[in-house]
Amino acid sequence: MSQVIAKLLEDHRRMTVLLEVLEREVKRFSEGVSLNFFLVEALLDYMMNFPQKCHHPIENLMLRSLSARDEARGAAAAEIFRDHDVITHLGMHFSDVFQQIKLQEQVPRELLVDAVQDYREFLLRHMEAEETIFFPAAEEVLYPSDWDVIETRLADKGDPVFGREADRQYRALHKVIVEWGER
Ligand SMILES: [Fe+2]
Repeated sequence: MSQVIAKLLEDHRRMTVLLEVLEREVKRFSEGVSLNFFLVEALLDYMMNFPQKCHHPIENLMLRSLSARDEARGAAAAEIFRDHDVITHLGMHFSDVFQQIKLQEQVPRELLVDAVQDYREFLLRHMEAEETIFFPAAEEVLYPSDWDVIETRLADKGDPVFGREADRQYRALHKVIVEWGER
């Protein structure tokens, strides 16, 4: 397996762990416990910013190579990429409902429960689609030189697109969230 795919799968696994933390927190909230605002804020920070800074740029570069090598499989993958906007939209809705609760507005608890459920289910389906359609297509179709180009850019600390420093910081944040979530 290419190192690039291994990194993307690891990102997905980390996101899935956070979705589990979020699900537990929201379940407690639905049972009447108050929300841990710091935890939810950290989760939102990670979920809204990490993919955009550290994950999608890599997928975009892979998609470009895939489309150049195999137009039909590139088009199928591009279709999955449309989900990225929907995920952002669902994440923003979740964030809005959370802000209302934080400001002590009278919001029915189900509104947050539903917002998180929609976000979580869509994101899980999306990651599965990438893992079953997009990643295998790239593995099959990309040339070794395509992977070399992507890996070189990933390894370049100065590359502004790939945000290696941000990647490191978000790994640290991930660890903190998981520790908080276990309390
Ligand atoms: Fe992804």
